Amino acid sequence: MTESKFTPRVFSGIQPSGNLHLGNYLGALKRFVDMQGPDMETVYCMVDLHAITVWQDPKELMHSTRELCAGFIAAGINPEQSILFNQSQVPEHAQLAWIFNCVARMGWMQRMTQWKDKAGKNQQNASLGLFAYPSLMAADILVYHATHVPVGEDQKQHLELTRDIAIKFNNDFGVDFFPITEPVIEGAATRVMSLRDGSKKMSKSDASDMSRINMTDDAETIAKKIRKAKTDPDALPSEVEGLEERLEARNLVNIYSALSDQTPEQVLAEVGGKQFGEFKPMLADLAVAKLSPISSEMARLMNDQAEIDRILARGAERARQITVPILRQTYEIVGMVGAGQN
Ligand code: TYM
Repeated sequence: MTESKFTPRVFSGIQPSGNLHLGNYLGALKRFVDMQGPDMETVYCMVDLHAITVWQDPKELMHSTRELCAGFIAAGINPEQSILFNQSQVPEHAQLAWIFNCVARMGWMQRMTQWKDKAGKNQQNASLGLFAYPSLMAADILVYHATHVPVGEDQKQHLELTRDIAIKFNNDFGVDFFPITEPVIEGAATRVMSLRDGSKKMSKSDASDMSRINMTDDAETIAKKIRKAKTDPDALPSEVEGLEERLEARNLVNIYSALSDQTPEQVLAEVGGKQFGEFKPMLADLAVAKLSPISSEMARLMNDQAEIDRILARGAERARQITVPILRQTYEIVGMVGAGQN
């Protein structure tokens, strides 16, 4: 298959479940903003249908979806340029996911590490939606014929599965219909780690709020969390090789790099030899300078929720101009009577 058949198009999504944190921002959102441009169509989604694979309080889900939309815009997504919407307003995602449930194999799903981590020992009691989650994610991407998907490292396996589903669909039906999507996992912050344990990913489900920086944290809280972040007693090295065995030190240097748009090498050239007592306040100042304008803009946007709802509705309308014809063609390929007529 030649990829040139498909126009370059970016798709990515974030779950509106709880707070947006620094990992989401540096690993995903900030890079979504960087990918906006005249040569690339960009489609970004609040994946509310994914969020309900585990229990969500309905009122909180609505609040989180709107707050996430405010986060996208405050971080620099322009809703006129990018298509910005919540997943449930574009029914073709769920419709294509059903087709993919019939393409993907049980064994593929059982291998997913996120399923194993999230369902844990209690798989019998997990929702069927949680198991089928990667099939819906493949549909999110492929219902746009998206070619590029910026994500953090933890989503890599799901993107490989998306490729497998596209390949199997194309082979089963003898077509060249779905593109083989490129994961875009780049930069210093593809895996931001917990501030309390450098071997664990920063995540919204961690019981300790001190483990993560939330995009809604105020300046004082951000500074306190960085001051209390776990480190080791040594000074920072001048070369990245010196960070290999030092998970917490490496994490803080990576965060500094991503926030300051520098490589870890450039950062270490500046801060190598410094003790954490000196480096942590530098990092706290940088984090506050970069994140505070975003959190205050989020709060401002949240004062006009009707406007947020209008933006999401308009985004969904634009999204459906892409998804309706792609789903219709998929139905035709699969052999659904009537698909050619509407
Ligand atoms: P979610 O909502 O868990 O996370 C959203 C994005 O943030 C990235 N991320 C991180 N990056 C670096 N360090 C971290 N500690 C960190 N934690 C989270 C994630 O990799 C992700 O890019 N399944 C997806 C949502 C989704 C999606 C899609 C993504 C649904 N459909 C289609 C891309 C394309 C998820 O649960 O992300």
